[in-house]
Amino acid sequence: MGEKLNLGVLVSGRGSNLQSIIDAVEEGRLEASLKIVLSDREDAFGLERARKQGIDAEWVDPSPHAGREDYDRAVVAKLREADVELVVLAGFMRILSPLFVESFRNRIMNIHPALLPSFPGLHVQQKAIDHGARFSGCTVHFVDTGVDTGPIIIQAAVPVLDGDTEESLSGRILKQEHRVFPKAIQLYAEGRIRVRGRRVFIDGGEEENGGQCLVNPPLGR
Ligand code: GRF
Repeated sequence: MGEKLNLGVLVSGRGSNLQSIIDAVEEGRLEASLKIVLSDREDAFGLERARKQGIDAEWVDPSPHAGREDYDRAVVAKLREADVELVVLAGFMRILSPLFVESFRNRIMNIHPALLPSFPGLHVQQKAIDHGARFSGCTVHFVDTGVDTGPIIIQAAVPVLDGDTEESLSGRILKQEHRVFPKAIQLYAEGRIRVRGRRVFIDGGEEENGGQCLVNPPLGR
């Protein structure tokens, strides 16, 4: 393996996905170097997690910036200064401007707690329950200029159970987020991801699963 992939991670909150990336690097499952963690929130716990690990972590205050693009210009400058090759949105609650997206075209990944294209936007675990969906899950995708619309890299499905609350379903989904996000980044680090239009192809990643599929509720009951 050659050089490690330089990552920049953007967080707005507790940073459990950031932690899963830190852990994957520590455990050698992810050949990447965390160059910088940035947040739009001074009190984001993700900043603390990064600092604890000795990773450069900075709050980039949105208030002095006139608009989204102005703010994004400042963030992009910091990412470039840190030699970031892949930008990871791990619970970053701002919509990126076209300027940001173009600066890192197909080099920004986001994780979303639903099976896109179902339930883009916010509060999507509750929306999946309210809709009566039998499955939900999470999606890692490249970021384009839409909201949760970019090419899909990896998804994990979980059942929605009759007794689910927003909290219980979110917890079940979050466990899978922590598995698939580091994996998606590692696939990128290995140079195995190709994007053609809306579709993402993974070199050596295709496998028939013998007709196995998930059914909820299970057929046997
Ligand atoms: C996750 O549910 C992620 O899917 C969504 O924001 C949440 C971030 O959680 N984009 P955390 O800050 O990584 O714990």
